[in-house]
Amino acid sequence: MDSVELSATTERDHQPDWPVISEVRRARDALARAAPLVAASDIRRLRARLSEPAFLLQAGDCAETFLDNTRRSVANRVSLLRAMAEAIEARSGRPVVTVGRIAGQYAKPRSAPTERRSGLTLPSYFGDAVNAADFTATHRTPDPWNLVRAYEQSSKTLSYLERSGVFSSHEALLLDYEQPQTRRSADEGRLYDHSAHLLWIGERTRSLTGPHIDFAADIANPIAVKIGPGATPTVLMGLHAVLNPDNIPGRLAFIFRMGRHRAYDLVYAMLSRIVAEGWVDRVVCDPMHGNTVVSPAGVKTRVVTAIEEEVRAFFSACNDTGVDPGGIHLEASGDDVSECVATRVDDTYLAANYRTACDPRLNPEQASYLAQLVGELLAPHRDFGPRMEMAMSTR
Ligand code: PEP
Ligand code: CO
Repeated sequence: MDSVELSATTERDHQPDWPVISEVRRARDALARAAPLVAASDIRRLRARLSEPAFLLQAGDCAETFLDNTRRSVANRVSLLRAMAEAIEARSGRPVVTVGRIAGQYAKPRSAPTERRSGLTLPSYFGDAVNAADFTATHRTPDPWNLVRAYEQSSKTLSYLERSGVFSSHEALLLDYEQPQTRRSADEGRLYDHSAHLLWIGERTRSLTGPHIDFAADIANPIAVKIGPGATPTVLMGLHAVLNPDNIPGRLAFIFRMGRHRAYDLVYAMLSRIVAEGWVDRVVCDPMHGNTVVSPAGVKTRVVTAIEEEVRAFFSACNDTGVDPGGIHLEASGDDVSECVATRVDDTYLAANYRTACDPRLNPEQASYLAQLVGELLAPHRDFGPRMEMAMSTR
């Protein structure tokens, strides 16, 4: 089965086709007047944590939904993140910084702007911050007031997260959501995007000439950028130059999502450049997004053994280049979903509890298994096995 590498739609930089522009302005004004979701002091606290040699655990839903934003769901997500962090810490002896894909992960870039079902063509589902998933014209029409709803829902999630020790993050995709929440701090005069502690720029919108990298360059939050198999070390050069020109620890992370087959070679090439240039940027493994497959019944899924293979390839590349493995980025649910399969694709299993609004998530058992693996691979002085053997096994 081939990996599904979705092609980029560059039209309008993945910004929604809002039908009524005056309403977008009003929604943006409402966001600009709203209280900050996260405080600058907490953003700075995360940056400080990320400037230390702690390991980053970043995990959560591919797409959060307003419907699932319940106290119980958030509690389940937090307890999974906690269990994963503990597993990694216990096995590796390294402190873990925990960041959820949570409290704002409501926008999705899509490969096609429209979707066709039995003769009807409608806008694709772009996440609850844009439109609703139900396949009707009303639900699929982008509504800019969903940006304000996303803000309100994020505020609710953050109230549940209070005192959990989990930082928030999401993909900074919708500029109509991020820009109004970006403000200059009175004390140090820097711009902070108060929508989340950490923002990342996706694989489809990381162009150096696009608006997303410009936006990220201006804000002082910790920034991550997804790096897929189409990128070269030269792309990394450009991103580092724009996003972390002063080479400050804690500012920038590269999240590699290469796909298991090529992960070792591609990550090795990237890390070699990072070493040669002396960059302090954090390197993180996303073993999910390069390993999506479609089942015989047409369901998007991921095989845990394939995910494991990319994790191992990433750690080998880190070992062989002497770069510190900086983190793991996973899509996981706090509920017992059946969206990823253990070893082989099985439509009967997938049908049991497939609930994701976008990409397939690990369930708590699968996520905990991977956290244990990561903890073991991270343990200092571990013998990872001969380099060539690993290079061969990941081809
Ligand atoms: C995601 O993280 O859900 C995503 C869309 O990832 P990427 O930008 O790496 O494709
Ligand atoms: Co995803």
